[in-house]
Amino acid sequence: MSGAAVRTVGLTKVFGSHVAADSVDLEIRTGEVLGFLGPNGAGKTTTINMILGLLQPTSGYVELFGEKADWTQSKMRRRIGTLLDGVELYPYLSAKENLQVFRKAFGGIPLCSVDKVLSAVGLSSRADDKVSGFSQGMKRRLGLALSLLPDPDILILDEPANGLDPKGIKDLRDLLKGLARAGKGVFLSSHLLHEVEVICDRVVILRKGKVIAEGKVNDLITETPTIELAVDRPQEAEKILLAKPEVSSVSRTGNRLTVQYNSCKTHAGTLLDTMPGLDNHERLAQLLNKSLASHGIFAYELILHSGSLEQVFFDVLKEVG
Ligand SMILES: Nc1ncnc2c1ncn2[C@@H]1O[C@H](COP(=O)(O)OP(=O)(O)O)[C@@H](O)[C@H]1O
Ligand SMILES: [Mg+2]
Repeated sequence: MSGAAVRTVGLTKVFGSHVAADSVDLEIRTGEVLGFLGPNGAGKTTTINMILGLLQPTSGYVELFGEKADWTQSKMRRRIGTLLDGVELYPYLSAKENLQVFRKAFGGIPLCSVDKVLSAVGLSSRADDKVSGFSQGMKRRLGLALSLLPDPDILILDEPANGLDPKGIKDLRDLLKGLARAGKGVFLSSHLLHEVEVICDRVVILRKGKVIAEGKVNDLITETPTIELAVDRPQEAEKILLAKPEVSSVSRTGNRLTVQYNSCKTHAGTLLDTMPGLDNHERLAQLLNKSLASHGIFAYELILHSGSLEQVFFDVLKEVG
């Protein structure tokens, strides 16, 4: 069984009376992209800085490759790459020259690594161009190339998509996925739920310094979207809904019914195909509502759960209160 490359154990940081990170336990594994999700102020940067040894924990500790983290060991530092906001590139040097400067500073890195990392981040064709002419996305990728120079096993990135345009975000996403496929572990924080949903294999959701949910993206996303209804004749309504071919199951709690359906299936000749401008989810909600109304049952609440991670994220936040 492959162990975690990075493990935090009860990692806690208190600023004055404010608990910014509260007993955070998480594991970063090689070969996967782990998302660290949470609203602004949740404690993501604080946690990341403690993992990187830039901030002393109030309590708890970090394990790197099965040993207690010791950042005085360059051997250990080299196995963890990061992309910090503060990294300054030399604007009047080329991409390649910037990498040469850092290669010398790191020491012991073969010359061929420069071309290798340039290729890894898709900048080979711009190797000799001055960084001053680079877009934000290209600079971010060059920053990533710098962090890849010592060939780290793990990359820890704090909001790497910030400030990038959609193309830059997509390029970065493909790049990080590729790195994970090549066996590296990627840990990235984000408050952009959609970004995390598409890029990460697993996510850890942080709220007010605490991990409130953790798991595989696919497990956190409910497999099928659902429609929740509140009615005053739930038993009768359940029967009516179950008789609909689009509905796969109905669960009932008090006056609330949760309807599951297969979002891929459309049924020719039903309302689903005749309501342009609405997605299937909305069409089905209308269809169910209409059926109930034709039996004199009027839903007094109707909630569409899309089954995206965003929904999970907000549901989790709601549950915790
Ligand atoms: N150096 C610091 N001194 C005092 N409070 C801090 C410091 N750094 C962060 N905080 C507080 O800790 C909380 C978590 O911040 P942060 O880790 O930056 O969150 P995130 O990265 O998720 O947006 C916030 O309330 C922030 O104001
Ligand atoms: Mg932050």
